Amino acid sequence: MEKKFGLIGSTISHSFSKSYFDEKFFREGLRDYHYDLYPLKNVDELKKLLAENPELSGLNVTIPYKEQVLKFLNDIDPSAKNIGAVNVIKIQDGKLKGFNTDSDAFYETVEKWFPKKIKNAKALILGTGGSSKAVQQALKKLSMPFELVSREKSKGQHTYESLQKNKSVIAEASLIINTTPLGMTPDTNSFPPIDYEAISSKHYVYDLIYNPARTLFIQKAEMHGATIKNGLEMLQIQAEKAWAIWNN
Ligand SMILES: NC(=O)c1ccc[n+]([C@@H]2O[C@H](COP(=O)([O-])OP(=O)(O)OC[C@H]3O[C@@H](n4cnc5c(N)ncnc54)[C@H](OP(=O)(O)O)[C@@H]3O)[C@@H](O)[C@H]2O)c1
Repeated sequence: MEKKFGLIGSTISHSFSKSYFDEKFFREGLRDYHYDLYPLKNVDELKKLLAENPELSGLNVTIPYKEQVLKFLNDIDPSAKNIGAVNVIKIQDGKLKGFNTDSDAFYETVEKWFPKKIKNAKALILGTGGSSKAVQQALKKLSMPFELVSREKSKGQHTYESLQKNKSVIAEASLIINTTPLGMTPDTNSFPPIDYEAISSKHYVYDLIYNPARTLFIQKAEMHGATIKNGLEMLQIQAEKAWAIWNN
């Protein structure tokens, strides 16, 4: 039986998901399964997409719709509801149920990568959108305190301007996570405007972006001695978790 899956987002032509699922379907002999990219100009176009593609069984959701998509769901997994963002939708009998696999995927990667021997570690999260919320939930589960950096004063403890005046914030964070799209293809010349001089070999710097593999954010942090990680492993884990949800 033909089954369709896909990705909704705004600029998704550089997405990894299609090649990931195309290869998976080929490897596993699922010849009637298809994965397509569905760029939407706004989230309201989702209704039309669903009406035109009744065979759709599941969707991944990416920037900027992880929060906006909530209003279209018939049901939401309690953990995703708690996070306030959805990156996986399961479609069954015309009903949409939302899940968040980003948070558990981020949790698993940090569990493995960030050394447990660093005591009283604090994290600094750049950005306050959908993936930031997933990261926040994972850090709570890891019992790691964190602060947020936003362009807007009301959304976090710090703005990029206030960080320039308070250099100790970066110096005292053991883990710095970029959840903004700054540096993501095709905008590869951008990077979060923080003081990279304050980064040293005691820092662990994680960029959720995986395309390109080495953003300017990652390169600058590495130049100052930080241990670095990009978003590829998280992406692979969240995709496998999405697959498990669609097949459950
Ligand atoms: N590796 C993975 O598995 C994985 C998973 C999820 C997401 N991601 C990546 O994470 C990034 C964000 O995705 P998302 O879904 O969280 O997007 P989102 O919901 O749109 O949130 C992004 C946040 O970044 C900040 N931001 C946006 N534009 C900015 C700019 N020009 N300058 C400074 N800050 C800016 C905003 O926070 P403020 O308004 O507070 O500044 C915004 O809320 C994307 O690059 C995505 O590919 C990767």
